[in-house]
Amino acid sequence: MSAFLSATGIHTFYGASHVLHGVDFHVDAGETVALMGRNGMGKSTLLKSLLGIVSPRTGKVTVNGRVVGRLETSAIIRLGIAYVPEGRGMFHNLSVREHLVMAARAGIDGKRDWTYERVLDTFPRLAERLDNLGTHLSGGEQQMLSIGRALMTNPRLLILDEATEGLAPLIRREIWRTVRTIKATGIASIIVDKNVGVLLDLADRHIILVKGEVVYDGGPEALKADKTILERHIGL
Ligand SMILES: Nc1ncnc2c1ncn2[C@@H]1O[C@H](COP(=O)(O)OP(=O)(O)OP(=O)(O)O)[C@@H](O)[C@H]1O
Ligand SMILES: [Mg+2]
Repeated sequence: MSAFLSATGIHTFYGASHVLHGVDFHVDAGETVALMGRNGMGKSTLLKSLLGIVSPRTGKVTVNGRVVGRLETSAIIRLGIAYVPEGRGMFHNLSVREHLVMAARAGIDGKRDWTYERVLDTFPRLAERLDNLGTHLSGGEQQMLSIGRALMTNPRLLILDEATEGLAPLIRREIWRTVRTIKATGIASIIVDKNVGVLLDLADRHIILVKGEVVYDGGPEALKADKTILERHIGL
């Protein structure tokens, strides 16, 4: 399989602080990759480096065969990526309906697999709250709206950074169910989440970061067979 996104030799700094130390990373078309590591190990920084939200000092990122170089984040995103960042508070004074409709566009292949109707079928809670303002939704509903809005762009790659953080177990399960549906439709994803058990079930491949370096890149089998890898690097 060919990589949809690949990054080589990524070094990223915040001022004098050297956070990513030569990271190599890729996601194949349709592949689900779990990006794991303790707090502060550089997971979010890697995602931001891929998208040009922070500029790596050195390294190369390719999306769909195109070197993104110094492209603006918005231009990188239009190559077929949807990004749901960590944290909330990104909602304006728009209704649920407006958030979804404004995000709608065809994928880079011209397909519109994910329509307004399909997103509402996937998240019935949103369908019941179409006129609510995004800022008036519960945390779980905001997270669903973020993912629904991401799907409206018909991405080839969905990036979820801590999408289930702070949510009640029931809502969390609903989000994981949706992620499985998304996976089944062939959309690739990069998932950062604290829930390692779910990731071991869901992901095709796991990357573990320790202090900005990749210490594991492989399938779930080895992680399940040898628990010491997760104990050492994630602290489970
Ligand atoms: N904007 C910033 N300016 C300076 N340092 C930052 C900034 N963002 C992150 N850092 C630092 O870079 C390191 C990596 O942070 P990052 O947010 O990438 O970690 P993470 O693995 O996503 O952690 P978490 O699991 O807590 O989200 C940390 O030491 C963090 O304090
Ligand atoms: Mg983070």
